[in-house]
Amino acid sequence: MLRIHRIRLLTALILPALTLLSLTGCRPVPPTPRSTTQPTATMSSTNLTSSEPITTPAADVYAANTRLGRGVNLGNALEAPREGEWGVILEEEDFRLIAEAGFDSIRLPTRWSAHTAEEAPYSIDPTFFERVDWAIHQALSHGLNVVLNIHHYDELFKDPQGQEARFLAIWQQIASRYADYPDTLYFEIANEPHDISPAVWNKLQAKAIGAIRESNPTRWLIVTPVDWSSHRRLQELVLPDEDRRLIVTFHYYLPFEFTHQGAEWVSGTEKWLGRKWTANTAERQNVMFDLDWAAKWGKDNNRPIYLGEFGAYSKADMDSRALWTSFVARQAEQRGMSWAYWEFRAGFGVYDYQRKQWREPLLKALLP
Ligand code: BGC
Repeated sequence: MLRIHRIRLLTALILPALTLLSLTGCRPVPPTPRSTTQPTATMSSTNLTSSEPITTPAADVYAANTRLGRGVNLGNALEAPREGEWGVILEEEDFRLIAEAGFDSIRLPTRWSAHTAEEAPYSIDPTFFERVDWAIHQALSHGLNVVLNIHHYDELFKDPQGQEARFLAIWQQIASRYADYPDTLYFEIANEPHDISPAVWNKLQAKAIGAIRESNPTRWLIVTPVDWSSHRRLQELVLPDEDRRLIVTFHYYLPFEFTHQGAEWVSGTEKWLGRKWTANTAERQNVMFDLDWAAKWGKDNNRPIYLGEFGAYSKADMDSRALWTSFVARQAEQRGMSWAYWEFRAGFGVYDYQRKQWREPLLKALLP
């Protein structure tokens, strides 16, 4: 992980302050957990037809979220500027290992914008498309659900108006290419929108949903709030009310000084080296408070919640990482959330690619 691709300084400063706030009062009423049942590994055989109305009972979308279950991000591969530049080239073995370990799903972070023409009609490079086809086929044939997203489209957040047509064209191409795929393929609108107002993002996200719905009226879609998919910004998320096939995702890396200590891509993090997470009462309460916040929003708005990224970087000590990872995963499950760990075999890796072995404390933390 030698890249320096963005500064999360704002998040680094603001989120800990907000977490501190959580200790000092103004807590929302904790929601009743929707379900504490463990997700099961299934490949749905449902064949969706385009005549099916999108106003299906909400229970279906909760079941679709439960199917995502316990997942892992195939990070640093297809969302690098070019696959391999961040040290990961996907192999068939990756999918086999993940499925055999007992994960239910993978999230496939994908940097489409680096493989799409700058001019209309904004064609996606066919070779890249074939590579993504391969990855999806690998996952599906190993019985894994797939979350395919648009990752690191930073130009979009810098210039939402100027990039809108390109963003929608990317989704139209992806959606029509995979329109006939089983409903175990989920689309996620965009990774971590940031430096964009909720009003602008809500409109853009709704337009992307609309573009996808032209060819995929029933596909399960994953949507997200602003500020790097912060649970604190769920309150400002506005979704098309009539579309009940939406799962809402947020990302969780708090305390940021612990999870991102020494992270080369976030400035100033070396001073956090040595931070531990010991599962003491205050630390546990902070996590529970934050997850309650997300769960309560989901319950109030009748939308299932997917914790699409959480993890602690390898510069933290393994005992703390395992404790934190296990606590976050169990707390998410207790609130009926599905999740995907960040990530498989790079800087946060649950798998050690050099030694060809799982990092057992992390694997056990995720799949006890
Ligand atoms: C980003 C990754 C990053 C991770 C941890 C993700 O949302 O997409 O590039 O490594 O967060 O900071």
